Amino acid sequence: MRALLQRYAPMLLINAFRNLRDTGQIAALPRQSFAADNLRPAGTLDLNTIFSSPGWQDDWLVDHAAVCDVFGEKNLAGGVNPGDRRAIYALIHSLKPQSLLEVGTHIGASMLYIARALKHGGGKVTTVDICDVNDPYTGAWRSSELPNSPAQMAEQLGCADRVAFVAQSSISYLKDTAETFDFIFLDGDHSARSVYEEVAAALPRLREGGVILLHDYYPQGRALFPDGNIIYGPFRAIDRVLKENPQINVLPLGELPWPTKQGSRKTSLALLTRKER
Ligand SMILES: C[S@@+](CC[C@H](N)C(=O)[O-])C[C@H]1O[C@@H](n2cnc3c(N)ncnc32)[C@H](O)[C@@H]1O
Repeated sequence: MRALLQRYAPMLLINAFRNLRDTGQIAALPRQSFAADNLRPAGTLDLNTIFSSPGWQDDWLVDHAAVCDVFGEKNLAGGVNPGDRRAIYALIHSLKPQSLLEVGTHIGASMLYIARALKHGGGKVTTVDICDVNDPYTGAWRSSELPNSPAQMAEQLGCADRVAFVAQSSISYLKDTAETFDFIFLDGDHSARSVYEEVAAALPRLREGGVILLHDYYPQGRALFPDGNIIYGPFRAIDRVLKENPQINVLPLGELPWPTKQGSRKTSLALLTRKER
């Protein structure tokens, strides 16, 4: 019992603090409107079929090898884990969005797979980060000991013309831009406040039949991986969005057919769709 407490108490305390912070944050936010009409109807997405389909798997082998050549195979701090990158690749290869927005470029772990998957359908990605991710001194790629910046890696992968980098906060970008997107991936600041505001600002930028993909969504605010770590923000934010907007639906991706992290197949990816009328 004592050994168990010693091992898990710090994580329990950290989780308790985060839960309090995010619950307080979300309760204090003024209500926003959520324009859900363009979200893809939930019944038109069959994730089992997408993930088991042979349609993307041959391309995946080629593209994964190409990305590994420039990025390596490591699960670098702050980047989307390799199993989730594969799921994102499969979704994009299958849904073939023409215009995709990523919030949270960081070291480009997800962006590189997004860009290669988009090649097969002719789409483009705009990737937004509050930091200048390509800065030669302050870019996260430097401290992650990557040999090249995200822009350089996109170029090495033959995707430079497919990727636009924006250094701006997600909310101000979403409010300023006139662009619309078929697919929006939210992987920026995972606080409850930011995710609530990002989803409100992202929905009006969505094209008809579009989806929003969330990262770090922990269903019911419960741990997903053996380390017991819980990120509450996206769950708390979406919990409020769903209570206020019963037409919106969240679909946690659950378990993937391949490993994700810490010996698990679980994923914190979740899709926002629309309930059918
Ligand atoms: C978890 S990392 C994203 C990981 C990335 N998708 C990858 O696979 O390499 C989160 C990123 O979001 C950025 N970020 C944090 N708050 C933001 C905001 N308000 N607007 C835009 N980007 C933000 C951070 O600078 C950080 O680079």
